[in-house]
Amino acid sequence: MKSFEPHVLSPMQLQSYLQTAIAPRPIAFASTIDANGKPNLSPFSFFNVFSSNPPILVFSPARRVRNNTVKHTLLNCEATKQVVINIVDYNIVQQMSLSSTEYPDGVNEFIKSGLTMLPSDMVKPYRVAESPVQFECKVNEIIALGNQGGAGNLIICEVVKIHISENVLDDNGMVDQQKIDLVARLGGNWYTRANKGLFEVEKPLVTLGIGVDAIPDFIKESKFFDGNDLGKLGNIETLPTEEEINIFVKNNVAVKGVLSSDDTEKIHLKAKEYLNNNEVLSAWKVLLAKL
Ligand SMILES: Cc1cc2nc3c(=O)[nH]c(=O)nc-3n(C[C@H](O)[C@H](O)[C@H](O)COP(=O)(O)O)c2cc1C
Repeated sequence: MKSFEPHVLSPMQLQSYLQTAIAPRPIAFASTIDANGKPNLSPFSFFNVFSSNPPILVFSPARRVRNNTVKHTLLNCEATKQVVINIVDYNIVQQMSLSSTEYPDGVNEFIKSGLTMLPSDMVKPYRVAESPVQFECKVNEIIALGNQGGAGNLIICEVVKIHISENVLDDNGMVDQQKIDLVARLGGNWYTRANKGLFEVEKPLVTLGIGVDAIPDFIKESKFFDGNDLGKLGNIETLPTEEEINIFVKNNVAVKGVLSSDDTEKIHLKAKEYLNNNEVLSAWKVLLAKL
């Protein structure tokens, strides 16, 4: 047994032990607006339900360990006292991850992650249309747990309206745990798909991903790519150069064959194969080689 008091660890080590041992954690995909009405969307896995009557959800945007700054979501909850907590299923896990990129203040992560803004009924922040369950909430209280990097801020939310997609309901109108296909966060890059098990999602770049909005339409509109594929494609920092694409094609007989077929379906399926193996740059090279 390895035993120690928390203060002997660096804040980073402590955070890592906590996040790898206290897992899997559900994910609050929190939609807020700032004082000027600009939308913001970010995931938080320090999250759970703590009361059903009244219906209370709590999540915690922490002060950054890196530089002790605070998150936009916290500032927005302080300013407006409203939030929509959207539930994350497997279909939107890559876009959710992309939305956690630390884009500057005022950048709309709905647009960067390619998710759809759906107006709420009782509060101003938008819902995520693709999310299977959306909780419109008022913020009752915010409790700061400290003033150092890593300190959480408990955002205590009361649910004022619930929206549930028909697609995840069973014959009795209750949520079907197979159909809802929930995901949860563990440590590092690890997630779990509740009905299947562990998988990894590459962390969003500390440098900024180009975003789903920067992906050309012919890719976004292809029937072969789903939200998870677009989320992966949007997470690269820069597109490969023409020279990089040419070298890649020259050295890859299989890709050359697919490209010379001039068959869009074959080209997109080859790119999809790379995406399934998380070889995102190779997928981009196959897709752009046709241009
Ligand atoms: C799955 C997932 C869970 C996260 N959970 C938390 C969390 O519980 N607390 C936190 O402070 N940051 C968490 N983050 C990081 C924030 O989402 C990230 O810092 C984001 O950029 C904050 O955005 P904001 O400044 O617009 O609020 C998480 C990221 C991911 C991908």
